[in-house]
Amino acid sequence: MNWNDATDALGIDEMDQTHREFTALVTLLSEANDAEFVALFGKLLDHSRQHFSNEGRLMRISRFPALGEHEGEHHRVYADLVQMNRAVQRGRLMLARAYVRTGLTEWFALHLSTMDASLAAHLKRTGESRATLTGMALPVLT
Ligand SMILES: [Fe+2]
Ligand SMILES: [Fe+2]
Repeated sequence: MNWNDATDALGIDEMDQTHREFTALVTLLSEANDAEFVALFGKLLDHSRQHFSNEGRLMRISRFPALGEHEGEHHRVYADLVQMNRAVQRGRLMLARAYVRTGLTEWFALHLSTMDASLAAHLKRTGESRATLTGMALPVLT
């Protein structure tokens, strides 16, 4: 999986940075030997938890209308990752390797271009991204 700033960046820095890291992790996983794969899959799980909870925070502070649908997708994928990580940590890698190569990669491409793109557009429209960049809990109302 390759990251291309020109086509993949959504214009919200913290989302783009997370997505860059996610893409790099998935690429490392697809090239990893078994021992590396086990460690990296654990990292992917942690990274995804932060990724999804951070987007959840952005959705809440900006009152994103499609919050339920978007978080539903996050929860579904996170539950798959948790289940697969259990097998991976017991040395059963086959299913997770296939998932990283196809299902997860395809899911991310679609999720990025639909739900994440729509969240980023909403943040730009409402100006809430400024609040996240300055670390404020709530945006300044003007
Ligand atoms: Fe995302
Ligand atoms: Fe998302």
